[in-house]
Amino acid sequence: MKVSFVAGVFAALASFATGSKYVWPSEYDEIEEILSLQGGYLSRRFADGVVPCSEGGNVKGRQNAAEWIRTAFHDMITHNSKKKTGGVDGSIWFELNRAENGGLAFNNTFNFFNFLYSSRASAADLLAMSVIVSHSSCGGSTKIPFRHGRIDAGEAGPAGVPETHTPLKTMLSRFATAGYSHADMITMVACGHTLGGVHSVNFPEISKGSTNIYNDTVTTFDGSPYQFDNSIATEYVKGTTKNPLIIGTNDTVNSDKRIFGSDKNKTMKALAKKPSVFEAKCAKIFSRMIDTVPKGVKLSSPLEAIDIKPNITKLYLNDEGSLVFAGRVRVRTTEGAKKGRDQADLSVHLTYANRKGKGATAIQTEYAGNSTGLYGETFAWYEYETVIEPSAGISKFNIHLTVPSKKKTTKYTNQGHGYPVDDAILYQDVESCVSRTSVNGTRAFVARVALDKDRTSSALRMEIVRFEKRQGVIVRKMDLESIDFAATGEESGIWAFYEATVQLSTSAWSTTFDIVSDGKKKTKGSAGYDKTKMEFLRTRTCARVSS
Ligand code: HEM
Ligand SMILES: *[C@@H]1O[C@H](CO)[C@@H](O)[C@H](O)[C@H]1NC(C)=O
Ligand SMILES: *[C@@H]1O[C@H](CO)[C@@H](O)[C@H](O)[C@H]1NC(C)=O
Ligand SMILES: *[C@@H]1O[C@H](CO)[C@@H](O)[C@H](O)[C@H]1NC(C)=O
Ligand SMILES: *[C@@H]1O[C@H](CO)[C@@H](O)[C@H](O)[C@H]1NC(C)=O
Ligand SMILES: *[C@@H]1O[C@H](CO)[C@@H](O)[C@H](O)[C@H]1NC(C)=O
Ligand SMILES: *[C@@H]1O[C@H](CO)[C@@H](O)[C@H](O)[C@H]1NC(C)=O
Ligand SMILES: *[C@@H]1O[C@H](CO)[C@@H](O)[C@H](O)[C@H]1NC(C)=O
Repeated sequence: MKVSFVAGVFAALASFATGSKYVWPSEYDEIEEILSLQGGYLSRRFADGVVPCSEGGNVKGRQNAAEWIRTAFHDMITHNSKKKTGGVDGSIWFELNRAENGGLAFNNTFNFFNFLYSSRASAADLLAMSVIVSHSSCGGSTKIPFRHGRIDAGEAGPAGVPETHTPLKTMLSRFATAGYSHADMITMVACGHTLGGVHSVNFPEISKGSTNIYNDTVTTFDGSPYQFDNSIATEYVKGTTKNPLIIGTNDTVNSDKRIFGSDKNKTMKALAKKPSVFEAKCAKIFSRMIDTVPKGVKLSSPLEAIDIKPNITKLYLNDEGSLVFAGRVRVRTTEGAKKGRDQADLSVHLTYANRKGKGATAIQTEYAGNSTGLYGETFAWYEYETVIEPSAGISKFNIHLTVPSKKKTTKYTNQGHGYPVDDAILYQDVESCVSRTSVNGTRAFVARVALDKDRTSSALRMEIVRFEKRQGVIVRKMDLESIDFAATGEESGIWAFYEATVQLSTSAWSTTFDIVSDGKKKTKGSAGYDKTKMEFLRTRTCARVSS
């Protein structure tokens, strides 16, 4: 069974309640983690592409931060605010055969976060986030809120990105259609052109230099292309600018000159006056830019780093038939966020209840490392691994933070629910993996699950995301496929074992899946149970076996 689901999955994500308190687990845990963990232990490494701000993967002339911001702008500016079409929806990657979207920057941009693209992180959400990551890495200090829920376009949208030769009137009407005033237009261009410059490879008539892609020469817009600052404006106002879109000999293509001077320099003078004004205005206009989305998209409220967040890394039956339970707790230690939460004076333990919800067995954790997020966020990690008596099982846990110097312990209960753990389905991680051998372009993924025997009368299936290449488009399509598990006949304790084998394309074996056990209505003769699932598991390759 195949269901095309790209829009459906993201629509579900977008419906995330605004304002309600966070309860773990959540569908947006993944996107929160991509945003929050930029450096250090368990970093998701989005910022690596733009740290430092000059970073360009050792390709001469390339600056990823500049490319990412420019890509978001080109994707957004074809928005129609009346018809509510276009905006940040990833349609840019279907539009690269247009002169207005020339060069390699747009594909490069997606290439950098392709590894983060999944059923829980749309290409459009990642593009929006890339603007924030770039802004932060290049010295922007005003926090730009990140809202998630953008839905990826499946095809090109209308054309209309302004080009250097576009007349002012056309530019103004293009921005107005997208929902931006005259002053907004000037501000947005100035804020964008504080980074990067014009590339000889793409615009040899504007930027002198080689047209060899390995010998690109950049004529920068201002004297500090790696700094998110107002020198784009101060240099312009002083008349010292070397911006190639201002001082070029051919006025037809001097677009920044036309734009910046179009309101008698009022906006540019204001931006030049004070760095803090530039900073505030740019954060605001970038926020509006990335939140310009078509109808059907409902953006979430700004995503904030979760204060206390657990992650179960293992819950499986080992060779002895014991239940291994391992995981970690992420504690937000950001300065000022929680007074007195200092990693050096903190210990963390869990207490868990058995399958019936009874008891409070303690599990100690150990500090394992720290990580950093954007705009000064920090986190500390505490890890544990323990063995649980399989007949007793586990249903939930609470998290306790102790400040030893004050002998004070605070208990976190996940808004009173406890942090749920369902031992009715165990993913046998150690025995599940994708074969290292490729046969006819596919690699076999064998997944093994232990299922509570009380559930074996209803279906157990895997819902796996398949990535499919599209001709000429760098963003792969996602399809959801459902595969039934079959009982192996083996049992251990309350569990029966199941297996499923999935052939995955050699070029797209790395993917995510859910394991779903359907519910059953209570009948006279037997007890019913609810549907349950393990979500967003990741395939991994089998360990090398020495022969
Ligand atoms: C509206 C009129 C605009 C025109 C005509 C224009 C034109 C250009 C041109 C010709 C380049 C050089 C590209 C290359 O050499 O590959 C460029 C670069 C850039 N543009 Fe614009 N732009 C405009 C607005 C904006 C806006 C609103 C933003 C962002 C908010 C932006 C962000 C950038 C960035 C960051 C670069 C540097 C890219 C790099 O160094 O790789 N531009 N722009
Ligand atoms: C849990 O941790 C793993 C790494 O061990 C990570 O890949 C995964 O994204 C985390 N899941 C959540 C929801 O935080
Ligand atoms: C790179 O371009 C510059 C400027 O056009 C030129 O002087 C230089 O010889 C080129 N180098 C190579 C290796 O092509
Ligand atoms: C100026 O640029 C325009 C647009 O690219 C072009 O048509 C025109 O020939 C150029 N003029 C000169 C003198 O190079
Ligand atoms: C705007 O500023 C530019 C650059 O300093 C200058 O050349 C131009 O004359 C100014 N325009 C007006 C109307 O003041
Ligand atoms: C994170 O850990 C490193 C290495 O142990 C340490 O040097 C650093 O001070 C820690 N940072 C924070 C914010 O706790
Ligand atoms: C691989 O493909 C060839 C040709 O289509 C076929 O004869 C062979 O049986 C396939 N091998 C496997 C293991 O599926
Ligand atoms: C972008 O990537 C796609 C898919 O790899 C490719 O077909 C296309 O030619 C690329 N476009 C550019 C402008 O490099």
